[in-house]
Amino acid sequence: MSQTPPTDDAALVRVLDRIDADLPEALERLKALLRIPSISTDPAFRAQCADAAQWLREDLAALGFEARLDATPGHPMVVAHGAPGKAAGQGPHVLFYGHYDVQPVDPLELWHRDPFDPEVEETAVGKVIRARGAADDKGQLMTFVEACRAWIAEHGSLPVQVSILFEGEEESGSPSLVPYLKERGDDLKADLAMICDTGMFDPQTPAISTMLRGLLGQEVIITGPERDLHSGMYGGAAMNPARVLARILADLHDEEGRIQVPGFYDDVPEISDELRAQWDGLGFDAEAFLGAVGLKHPAGEKGRTALEMLWSRPTCEINGMISGYTGAGFKTVLPSKASAKVSFRLVGQQDPAKLREAFQAFVRARVPDDCKVEFINHSAGPASVMATDHPAYEAARQALSDEWPREAAFVGCGGSIPIAGYFKTILGMDSLLIGFGRDDDQIHSPNEKYDLESFHKGIRSWARVLAALARA
Ligand code: BES
Ligand code: ZN
Repeated sequence: MSQTPPTDDAALVRVLDRIDADLPEALERLKALLRIPSISTDPAFRAQCADAAQWLREDLAALGFEARLDATPGHPMVVAHGAPGKAAGQGPHVLFYGHYDVQPVDPLELWHRDPFDPEVEETAVGKVIRARGAADDKGQLMTFVEACRAWIAEHGSLPVQVSILFEGEEESGSPSLVPYLKERGDDLKADLAMICDTGMFDPQTPAISTMLRGLLGQEVIITGPERDLHSGMYGGAAMNPARVLARILADLHDEEGRIQVPGFYDDVPEISDELRAQWDGLGFDAEAFLGAVGLKHPAGEKGRTALEMLWSRPTCEINGMISGYTGAGFKTVLPSKASAKVSFRLVGQQDPAKLREAFQAFVRARVPDDCKVEFINHSAGPASVMATDHPAYEAARQALSDEWPREAAFVGCGGSIPIAGYFKTILGMDSLLIGFGRDDDQIHSPNEKYDLESFHKGIRSWARVLAALARA
């Protein structure tokens, strides 16, 4: 059994110095992981997902973890526990989570380089590592692995007991996750889960995300005539499903930006005055946020601040619309089918199953006699709110504030990370969400990048958080 390492300032400084000295090697390891195209949603990349899982298992085993792959109907889970010996650690037990799968790369022609040939690039705002998955989530998960590596290298073991779970299906809605946690979750139970898949408030201000929105994905397919028709020969007399779909999609919001599905706002709470004041104090610059993507005007519900729109209000977005002729030139077609992919971001106690029903009823009520509608159900998960009174929050906030120019902020997160809710509901575990992404990382878009500073100071941040948890 190894000794618990010291966690005083001198011990931590040695770890931080080690991280600085080893940064070039850490970067090479990250590049090796980024070269594996682990696109979870595309069956053509199944073997590559397994390769990424295997790469991580081997890296963790080399650190002294007892690491294994657990097969699922989809992609494998990487599970590791601090083993007696190098990676043991004592004190509180934390479970670290990240995902090794990445989003598809299309449209490939908009990338300035091969998405799976990572390189460090010099940009106007500093060095970045560019590749699919650099920020979401391989660069982020490696910040934690590298922090563990530095503790072990410098002191022989970790300051707390660490287990690790890397998932390979997060970007495709985590279909294997719930059954897996129900069947094998006992092995993952710890005092606290830590998730590195979120962002900073701004490049100077580290953040702990205290709430995540839920997600409900729904595809709608409307069929009119049994085949595509000449829009002159039939147009006027034949019902056009694209017209039906357009009307339904337009009905989803009113002039004030409110969603019109009956009962949609039933379980949507107002944020507390305290939280509102705290968010106001962050000085979020909505103009700059939208300006960075060529926009000006917050487009959510009237009377809400941009931060509310992003963090505490539910949304309905059309993610895709397909119908008729979309190729070059022009074709006078009256399409047989029209379909849309629609998603709702959920907050508070909004129930995905109930809202799926309500949305389908909303659509059915608007489909005329001559058309039929089908639905494909995509991912569904509720919102989650973290237990910020957990003592780890204050310890982590201090640790982050020690590393970065500004004090750490408690923020909301508009995105969804399904596992945070399941850790609580299935395993009874609270989560601490810390990430070092930036708004301009272009996650899910062409030319994804992770700032070298995010990577480097992210590693240093986790090294500090581990010490702070041991002391707390
Ligand atoms: N890393 C993101 C979540 C995220 C998004 C955090 C934006 C911070 C800012 C995560 O990998 C993701 O994209 N999740 C999906 C979940 C879905 C596929 C179930 C999302 O939010 O759309
Ligand atoms: Zn992610």
